[in-house]
Amino acid sequence: MFSLSGTKKRQLPRTLDASLLVVQNYNIEQYVNIVYAINMKIQLLYYSGAGNTKFIANSIEEALSRKNYDVNTIKISEKSINSLNNDFDILILGSPVYFRETPELVNKIFDKISGENRPIMVFLTKGLYSGNTYKNIHKKSIENNFIPIGLMEIFMPGTDLLTLAIKEKSFLENFAISIHSKNINKKIDNFIGKIGKNKPIKNVLTKWYTFFDELIVKKAEIKADNSHKDWIGKFTVNVDNCIYCKKCINGCPHGNIELNEKIAFGINCDVCFYCINNCPKYAIYLSETRRNNVRYSEEKINKIFSGILEKQTSV
Ligand SMILES: Cc1cc2nc3c(=O)[nH]c(=O)nc-3n(C[C@H](O)[C@H](O)[C@H](O)COP(=O)(O)O)c2cc1C
Ligand code: SF4
Ligand code: SF4
Repeated sequence: MFSLSGTKKRQLPRTLDASLLVVQNYNIEQYVNIVYAINMKIQLLYYSGAGNTKFIANSIEEALSRKNYDVNTIKISEKSINSLNNDFDILILGSPVYFRETPELVNKIFDKISGENRPIMVFLTKGLYSGNTYKNIHKKSIENNFIPIGLMEIFMPGTDLLTLAIKEKSFLENFAISIHSKNINKKIDNFIGKIGKNKPIKNVLTKWYTFFDELIVKKAEIKADNSHKDWIGKFTVNVDNCIYCKKCINGCPHGNIELNEKIAFGINCDVCFYCINNCPKYAIYLSETRRNNVRYSEEKINKIFSGILEKQTSV
């Protein structure tokens, strides 16, 4: 069991009747685990653009709830980050990988909450490779007095495919969807199984390929479109299709979208592509030639991956 001495231990307001031992036929170990779980307050913070990381965050939340954990789940945005709750025993932090880094807002949570020797667990979603993303979060965690105890990385469709010539319902789209982690449910179970075990992650090695990444790939990305920064503030809105539902405005993590006479974009944008992927009318796009490029809305990801997880579990 993880020792909470010296950490922000809460009072134990929630109780469990020992008669459950008999009624539910629990053995002592199961009973102790349940008592432990119901007294452990978990804060699950995640950042998400299109919705991949949100899907995994929701899956983790469900898995934790099944084990009786008390979870407070919050999507990171410029608004939510200003009122983060410090009343937790464990922090679970979820992030997509954007250009082998976490989005800046994810790093900002360390300015807002200090670890106070509490454990932190991190999950990343990625399309291809994460480089030193976790190594950097690990370093930040330790600098801010968190104890890193868990890491999980999940392959999901690369939401940056939006910038490439991959069309909706094409062979390439199906191929992109087919690239995802195996046994996601099992990975989640292993990940949350780290809660309660006092096993800090001490060192994280530099990934071997980051040298080539810096030398070749990053330079190519900057040349192509300045790591997508060339698109900032320049998304196109088809006013004929827009139904002014404000979904893009409400979901933008940076509050970067406004409705004046029509939908307008500022430059406070990290190209998360929430807006383009989640507009119900496909009214936002990068450019005319990319109008029919593949999109991954939260609903679409939820539908596809719920099916995938179900299949993976039944195999
Ligand atoms: C701007 C941008 C940059 C990306 N850079 C990387 C990357 O460097 N490595 C990688 O494996 N995936 C990369 N991806 C793919 C995402 O990490 C992946 O699709 C992730 O699951 C998206 O999660 P989200 O939908 O929660 O934002 C990038 C996606 C975007 C939008
Ligand atoms: S989400 Fe799409 S339809 Fe809704 S307001 Fe934004 S651009 Fe218009
Ligand atoms: S404007 Fe930029 S930050 Fe906001 S949802 Fe769109 S891509 Fe993301």
